[in-house]
Amino acid sequence: MAKLVINNENKKSTIAPEIYGHFSEHLGRCIYEGLYVGEDSDIPNVKGMRKDVVEALKEMQIPVLRWPGGCFADEYHWMDGIGPKESRKKMINTHWGGVVEDNSFGTHEYFELCNQLGCKTYVNANMGSGTVREMSEWVEYMTFNGVSPMADLRKKNGHEEPWVVDYLGVGNENWGCGGNMRPAYYADEYRRYQTYVRNYDGNKPIAKIACGSNNDDYEWTKVVLDTCYDHMPDGVHGFMDGLSLHYYTLPEMENGNWDYKGSATDFTEEIFYKTLKRGYFMDEIITKHGEIMDQYDPEKQIGMMVDEWGMWTDVEPGTNPGFLYQQNTMRDALLAGMTLNIFNNHSDRVKMACIAQLINVLQSVILTDGDKMIKTPTYYVFKMYRHHQGATLLGVDLLANPTVGKGEFEVPKVFQSVSEDKDGVITITLTNNSLDAAEDVEIQLTKDAGAYNVAEASILTGKMADHNTFEAPEVVKEQSFDKYTKTAEGLSVTLPACSVVSIRLKK
Ligand code: AHR
Repeated sequence: MAKLVINNENKKSTIAPEIYGHFSEHLGRCIYEGLYVGEDSDIPNVKGMRKDVVEALKEMQIPVLRWPGGCFADEYHWMDGIGPKESRKKMINTHWGGVVEDNSFGTHEYFELCNQLGCKTYVNANMGSGTVREMSEWVEYMTFNGVSPMADLRKKNGHEEPWVVDYLGVGNENWGCGGNMRPAYYADEYRRYQTYVRNYDGNKPIAKIACGSNNDDYEWTKVVLDTCYDHMPDGVHGFMDGLSLHYYTLPEMENGNWDYKGSATDFTEEIFYKTLKRGYFMDEIITKHGEIMDQYDPEKQIGMMVDEWGMWTDVEPGTNPGFLYQQNTMRDALLAGMTLNIFNNHSDRVKMACIAQLINVLQSVILTDGDKMIKTPTYYVFKMYRHHQGATLLGVDLLANPTVGKGEFEVPKVFQSVSEDKDGVITITLTNNSLDAAEDVEIQLTKDAGAYNVAEASILTGKMADHNTFEAPEVVKEQSFDKYTKTAEGLSVTLPACSVVSIRLKK
């Protein structure tokens, strides 16, 4: 039996709501069909945005949305996506599937979408194939309220008021698709580009995010910070507010062979544990990149922004390989539950994370087919964990936690994180990573244990490959959870095998 001792007097870091963020790229059917169907579509929409999707994402409490890429961002020329739709340039999306990109979803549509979702904005600028001028004019177009060529153009295009850009990414994966740069070169370019991300009077300052490492490339982190460090003597704000990190879990890929990553729905128990083990690597790389960041920024002012993460499998058979469309099972749910707990527990440094990607691409929360929409197991995990957004992480000890999976694929059985919100409500989220054994967890609170009652509890569980389809959309869904009893010290809980559980305690 595992024991979770919650020290509810040990209040740690704030869990940035943005840890529950999402990523939407002009890739496959994420933007077109998934989010945006156009005003003339028969699918119910508001200004072209699917009503069913917007409603589901609001219910899940999406806090921030990154756009327009990804690799697409470093080939995106924003002026192609403004003005009358009929005269917008058409182009080939060379990176993703070679399909025609008609630019009908551009800057105005992105801000309209975020407005409907009520979420923060994260625009990723083009450093790979764009100029400093192009990026700086985009910022002017989006945020300047005075008289200027770009502000005037925005007004001419129908938007009088400037928008709020909460985050701006200065390049994407510049070690790869964003220009194949070496870290010192990128860092010098970052110094130059960020200079022209102006904060215009009266606007909320734009938080600038530099391109960080791929996986465990610690050298990238070190060199970028080292090259930029002398420029931040008075603190980092206004120069570098975040450094990104990308890490994907590829269940069966070996030796960098992208041709085989494994099926999303057809896998063995051994592969299940292997996947979790690969996902658990996130904890190690956050720790190690964090240690390097601590050397330059001990006060943790630069957020680690894990703005691409999630499971990446082979595409669903018969679909365009360039569209990255994959199904989503209980295995995805376990990976998401475990990873979000890891992020919460590192919330002193991790200030944003965006799962890739929002709809119909990679580890999505929503899949669509024409006018049909389904919520994936990953969707329910985000919804169940939403109460952590903006809450304060509490200190815990997890004792006698067994492991599951054999040999090199061994992982802890239970993953957890615990937070307290502004009203004193405690949220506990747990995963049981075992495929066959339940786990009893004795939960103890160090203060006022007797005063707390369960206000709400829910579970997501099933067999490892269970998933929702358009024919059977509710095979996996959040259900109410009652396998707990109140004890003098807190709560005694039984976590079923292969489950994600959320419990809320209120005085
Ligand atoms: O999410 C798919 C791709 O993965 C993104 O475009 C890129 O940034 C990453 O390599």
